[in-house]
Amino acid sequence: MAIRILQKEKLFSLEGKHTQYVFSIDENNLVRHLYWGKKINNLEDFSPEKIVEISSNDPTLELTKEEYSPQGGLRYKESCLKVQFQDGTRDIVYSYEGYEIIHDTLIIKIKDKNYDFFKINLYYKIYEDEDILERWTEIKNQGNEDVVVENILSAEFNLPEGEKYTLTNVHGRWAGEQVQFKQDLSYGKTVLESRRGVSNHNHNPYFILDSGANEDYGDVYFAALKYTGNFKIVIENTPYNTTRALIGINDFDFMNTLEPSESFVTPKVICGYSFLGFGNMSRRLNNFALKYVIPEEQRNKIRPVLYNSWEATTFNVKVEEQKKLAKKAQEMGVELFVIDDGWFGRRNSDKDGLGDWYVNKEKFPQGLGELVDYVNSLGMDFGIWVEPEMVNPESDLYKQHPDWVYSFPKRYRNTLRNQLVLNITKREVKDFIITFLDKLLTDYNIKYIKWDANRPISEGGAYNLPKNKQRMLWYKHIESLYQIVDELRKKHPEVSFEACASGGGRIDYGALSHFTEFWTSDNTDALDRLMIQYSYSFIYPTKAMRAWVTDCPNFVNNRYIPLDFRFHSAMLGTLGIGGNINKWSEEELRLAKEKVREYKDIRNIIQKGNLYRLKSPYEGQISAFQYSIKSQESVLFVFLRGQNFGVFKHNINLKDLNENSMYEVIYDNVTYKKSGAYLMNLGIDIILIGDCASKLIKIREI
Ligand code: DGJ
Repeated sequence: MAIRILQKEKLFSLEGKHTQYVFSIDENNLVRHLYWGKKINNLEDFSPEKIVEISSNDPTLELTKEEYSPQGGLRYKESCLKVQFQDGTRDIVYSYEGYEIIHDTLIIKIKDKNYDFFKINLYYKIYEDEDILERWTEIKNQGNEDVVVENILSAEFNLPEGEKYTLTNVHGRWAGEQVQFKQDLSYGKTVLESRRGVSNHNHNPYFILDSGANEDYGDVYFAALKYTGNFKIVIENTPYNTTRALIGINDFDFMNTLEPSESFVTPKVICGYSFLGFGNMSRRLNNFALKYVIPEEQRNKIRPVLYNSWEATTFNVKVEEQKKLAKKAQEMGVELFVIDDGWFGRRNSDKDGLGDWYVNKEKFPQGLGELVDYVNSLGMDFGIWVEPEMVNPESDLYKQHPDWVYSFPKRYRNTLRNQLVLNITKREVKDFIITFLDKLLTDYNIKYIKWDANRPISEGGAYNLPKNKQRMLWYKHIESLYQIVDELRKKHPEVSFEACASGGGRIDYGALSHFTEFWTSDNTDALDRLMIQYSYSFIYPTKAMRAWVTDCPNFVNNRYIPLDFRFHSAMLGTLGIGGNINKWSEEELRLAKEKVREYKDIRNIIQKGNLYRLKSPYEGQISAFQYSIKSQESVLFVFLRGQNFGVFKHNINLKDLNENSMYEVIYDNVTYKKSGAYLMNLGIDIILIGDCASKLIKIREI
């Protein structure tokens, strides 16, 4: 039973296969957190002691671990919910009303004691097999007066006491996103957030808190927000030696007036506990995403090998050159040819064109169909880049509709990359985007949309919204984005959608609930990518991680890396090629063809299998990744950043094999036979010579 309840004690237990989350309603009617950890079957064991105030400065509300702390009364801790009632009261005093179970979801119903029309529902959905809990919150105004909501987070988490926690997240910027950091929590608060309207490159909307864990052992608590807009995570070490973590929509420039009969539902949070370290956490999330998050119509499809012409031609698109690239790509074994920016309007640079979504006649004198048909005639699918939320002030669209962008009347409209953000909370703007994209997808045989967004929102004026909802624009922008993509998906279910925001600015579970995959980073330097991809893999699924092989020297670091290594690095996700293959030598094209074929042979294991991060690129010269399916088939990638002191032999111990089975190991075209126990305990010696050397090894149970 995934949800168990002790009625008399008002105790609620949510149970996965191995983990459990327990809370109860205490004598003060507070929803009090009791436990998050390994399973404890005997619920009667939970007998929470009464909390008494320590001193006049340490009230019980500060000491109680609540499931959802509103602002009010003797609470000074960070709160999840802050409202103002019409009479000016800025204080919530809640009491428990009851619960309901709908399938696998437990709903805890609470209301304000005096303003009893104000209801709060706490949702807990348990995925028993995956040991994943999904949490979210709903507020309802069932009264006759407005309630102003100044802050509403999705969930609060209280971690087991007596441990010191380390926070893992990423930091970064454009072309340097997903750089992992680990930070021991000290006193006070740690805040990670986005105020930019996209989840962005700086941090990512999740937290991982561990107490001395590694890849295979130790306690890890994690939560990831299903939201692609402004988020906020606050982690607080309290004066009482406890750690709390709050996650949800950012209260930055947020305010929502709930009118009578209105309700608001927060984004969901995917969360869990692992006692087997980070590896177990990532594999569970990977499986969960494949089973429940990636849009259903694309969920079970293997991701194709694509070619994208952006780095090859940038804005300088010419149909003949694109056709040449397409031919080369097809010869290499590519399955999807994607034309990037520069095919539309007066798009010869980033100064113009955005918003004018007609095919550029000079670049495509016979129309876009010429290229689409050619690509299709080569047996490949066709994909195309768009940036629907944006407009260049130089464009015809902007000249016709200067009122379609977010702005404040007396303020200068700040551009970034010469563009402004369209106010897609306006019905007519939304319709415009749906119409042009629907037409594009109907007129041409397009199977893939790369959806870009190259700047954050600023000057967030949205006067189409009622006065009391204007600060909801950040939220409503994301809501509209989801609606647009969902409508297009419904009309064109065969189309995949890639979420891109100047590279990896839109990597989050909100985006992944509507898009099929992510553009991971504009940084395609194969060495940097090992680190970016490693961090990504902590939370997000391999199948959604697009990675390209591009030219050297790479534009980010001016570095030369052997083609073999570049392929191996990109094969850790869904393989793409993004170099100017019209300029590749015969030898490079031959190697590429071989690598694409090899990837197709093993991609089932990579895209659907379990990832074991054997050696981290953050920790030394060697990194190693093993993908495995049911302990039967594995592929191992080993990378050497740079050779030092003549060391060329590196021992790698495999994981997830059956000890007593025999395995065939194919390494440098030679086949060895070894037992699972040998490969896991003694491992394999990998020879890597020189800088940027890599190997791909295949392992199969006999
Ligand atoms: C930013 C993206 O991340 C790139 O891959 C490319 O699509 C450019 N935009 C095009 O303008």
